[in-house]
Amino acid sequence: MIKTDYKLNNNILIPSIGFGTWQIPDGDDAYNSTLWALENGYRHIDTAYVYRNEKSVGQAIKDYGLDRSDVFVTTKLSANIKDSTLVREYALKSLDNLGLDYVDCYLIHNARPWSDGIEGHDYFEENVAVYKVMEELYDEGKVRSIGVSNFLVKDLENLLEYSMVIPVLNQIKLHPGYLQEDIVEFCENHQILVEAYSPFATGKIFGHEDIMKLAQKHNKTEAQIILRWILQLGHLPLPKSVTKERIISNLDVFDFNLDDEDMKVMNNFKYEAQ
Ligand SMILES: NC(=O)c1ccc[n+]([C@@H]2O[C@H](COP(=O)([O-])OP(=O)(O)OC[C@H]3O[C@@H](n4cnc5c(N)ncnc54)[C@H](OP(=O)(O)O)[C@@H]3O)[C@@H](O)[C@H]2O)c1
Repeated sequence: MIKTDYKLNNNILIPSIGFGTWQIPDGDDAYNSTLWALENGYRHIDTAYVYRNEKSVGQAIKDYGLDRSDVFVTTKLSANIKDSTLVREYALKSLDNLGLDYVDCYLIHNARPWSDGIEGHDYFEENVAVYKVMEELYDEGKVRSIGVSNFLVKDLENLLEYSMVIPVLNQIKLHPGYLQEDIVEFCENHQILVEAYSPFATGKIFGHEDIMKLAQKHNKTEAQIILRWILQLGHLPLPKSVTKERIISNLDVFDFNLDDEDMKVMNNFKYEAQ
């Protein structure tokens, strides 16, 4: 039985599919796609300060007019902010961009600035100091939950050792052929939900025979097979699209089931970028 919400480790509910907005330009594109997502049943929107589209995403949320408590909004502190004295300012900037009094989840976008890669300096102390300010924002109610993104096991271990609040989730890249098993196992052992970003490998996953066969078998699209597989693994997928039909169909994954054999095929899928 697949749930339409997950419960985070601080007991708040999060809709089990989030609408991704990376690379959707601010303005009409971000506004319309967010609006289409909301109109068609998404209740969870994922953005970030560095996506530069918080304004249009927030405007669409406002114009659609749901009760604030009926939509879950995540945004992220830029990966290059490792000076804790800047965290509050950036969090408030995001709230201002979004036009919201609070966000439902606030994440450290990456343990390291993107330009550092995953080698080199670990920013252990910096991340703990940054996270401490996020804990204050959490206490003040400016964010309903706090978490991380792109954190490796060593980054999580460091944070857990020196912080008070367990991150509610870790948003990591996860798609067929890219399972990040060590991080997933660590998260599952510590009640940290795994959010699967780039579930379609940013659009490059499509056209492989194994997934096409499963799509045929279930009379579903390849995208729906992938999203269903991620849900059945117990993770939270974040599909992105600017195409109305795809936005709609990507949410239509609650009426079928992948059996053990299907799951095996998906788990063993070898991804080769095309
Ligand atoms: N925390 C991080 O560091 C991080 C990094 C990457 C992503 N993310 C989050 O995860 C979200 C998703 O990842 P992503 O943006 O890399 O992309 P993705 O969801 O893996 O793939 C999006 C691509 O797939 C296409 N697509 C979507 N649905 C489709 C369908 N049903 N059939 C065929 N093609 C389809 C989209 O095309 P169209 O848009 O043209 O329809 C787009 O080209 C992001 O938007 C962001 O919110 C987070």
